[in-house]
Amino acid sequence: MAGPDPRVAVFDAYGTLFDVHAAVARHADAIGPDAGALSEAWRNKQLEYSWVLGLMGRFTPFWDLTERALDHALATYPDVDRALRPRLLDAYRDLDAYPEVPGTLRDLQEAGWRTAILSNGDGPMLERAVASAGLTDRLDAVLSVEAARTFKTDPAAYRLATARFGVAPGDVLFCSSNRWDVAGATAFGFRSVWVNRKGLPEEYPDFPPERVVSRLDALL
Ligand code: LAC
Repeated sequence: MAGPDPRVAVFDAYGTLFDVHAAVARHADAIGPDAGALSEAWRNKQLEYSWVLGLMGRFTPFWDLTERALDHALATYPDVDRALRPRLLDAYRDLDAYPEVPGTLRDLQEAGWRTAILSNGDGPMLERAVASAGLTDRLDAVLSVEAARTFKTDPAAYRLATARFGVAPGDVLFCSSNRWDVAGATAFGFRSVWVNRKGLPEEYPDFPPERVVSRLDALL
């Protein structure tokens, strides 16, 4: 694959490498018919809290936001048994990686790319997710926005990657399944790839990705 010369590939974590809906899917039978809606509400609130608190300048670790978002989702769907809360949080700690992820990271490394995560996740949750998905050796860096006490799409969050590798924004290939994150990355000056797994409609036309792929291994 043609890429920038320094060959730095940076990945969003949740939704891009790790399937955020795997936690609810693991307990779908116990949750019942609201499982899909609960999972969407959990994810959407988690993101909303990051943006709202980020704009307030009230950085809060992403794990806390994940717990608060689950509480709100459970309150929104009262038919779901609240006793599932600890099991859902445990499942979120050890989310499945998408099947093509380990092989894609390995192929990139073998082709001379340096690879990293840049995530809104906090350090401990990222370390655990990376280890449980067996990705530790496949990543040269795991960068949390915690170091900048802000969240994506704040440019200060994306700057953590250029600072870590000592490169310019245009030297970074940034891959995310989250279109809002791709917009932030493009605005920062990264070369961006939208991993549009679900065939979602285009948005943020002022901040387009350089490429759109449906799976991570289509990068290569
Ligand atoms: C991440 C989430 C928010 O930054 O997708 O990993």
